[in-house]
Amino acid sequence: MSVGKRVGIVGAGNVGATVAYSLVMLGACHEVILRDNKIDVARGKALDMSQAASAVRSHTVVKVAEEMSDLINCDVVVITAGSPRLPGMSRDDLLMINAKITKEVIQGVAKYSPDAIIIMVSNPLDAMTYVALKESGFDRSRVIGMAGILDSSRMAAFIQEKLGYGGGQIRASVMGGHGDDMVPLPRYSTVAGVPLSDVLTDAEIDEIVERTRKGGAEIVGHLKTGSAYYAPAKSTAIMVNAILKDTKQIYPCAVLLEGEYGFSDVVSGVPVMIGANGAEKILEVTLNTQEKEMFKNSCESVQGLIDTLKNNNFFDGE
Ligand code: LAC
Repeated sequence: MSVGKRVGIVGAGNVGATVAYSLVMLGACHEVILRDNKIDVARGKALDMSQAASAVRSHTVVKVAEEMSDLINCDVVVITAGSPRLPGMSRDDLLMINAKITKEVIQGVAKYSPDAIIIMVSNPLDAMTYVALKESGFDRSRVIGMAGILDSSRMAAFIQEKLGYGGGQIRASVMGGHGDDMVPLPRYSTVAGVPLSDVLTDAEIDEIVERTRKGGAEIVGHLKTGSAYYAPAKSTAIMVNAILKDTKQIYPCAVLLEGEYGFSDVVSGVPVMIGANGAEKILEVTLNTQEKEMFKNSCESVQGLIDTLKNNNFFDGE
């Protein structure tokens, strides 16, 4: 009997649950399995979503993993588990806390779903993708970070807002890490194929670039008690769908660089072809001197986080 596709989601908070809901609405897979330490929350959301599936006649079933060992033989596992930043915490404190959570979760994923493709969503995204790679021992093609689709969607939405037209026809491009020094690329952004510089002034483009870099913080500023989840979750569901349907489409994603763009042993956002085997190909875009400098700065920020983990002996004993 052929078995349908199964997607595991670790962390049933706002992002994880909304990824699940998107997959259910798409009918992207046979089964979604939710895992969360707050097991009753996962149970409640799974029931609710199963009922939503019935409402739209979707075949996707939503289940709960009572234990990590229930997250078995998944085709794709999405990791959204992590701690939010609490008062008095430094960025490095959050890094260490989420790295420990990621380590534990990934060891379980590697054990129970050894053939899965892992999509990392937890922050700090690029460093957590690096941790997932090291802890799983998976090939870099099977550990992919979500952020570029989100950041470029934000940029496209800001372009649309500024123009007042072109919705759905805007292709915005963002590379680099998912941090304040991400690299929006106006030169590679278009409105129905028309270069951005033909429809916006330099000052308007600069404003959009700045707002894109701070896009996550802008939403936190409004929500106050949490961060964005609709766009992060939809961006993740797009990646899951591309893998399950083997679309071989190009998306900006965070992957381990092994010489591409002149960097190695660091994770950064670059255009990636996504298919059944995960990140099947990395595309190297021609960058000008200024873009190269920005990409270098971004990679160095991520490298700094990885170095902090290494200096805290995080990877020792492996
Ligand atoms: C954001 C956070 C969640 O960009 O990374 O919204």
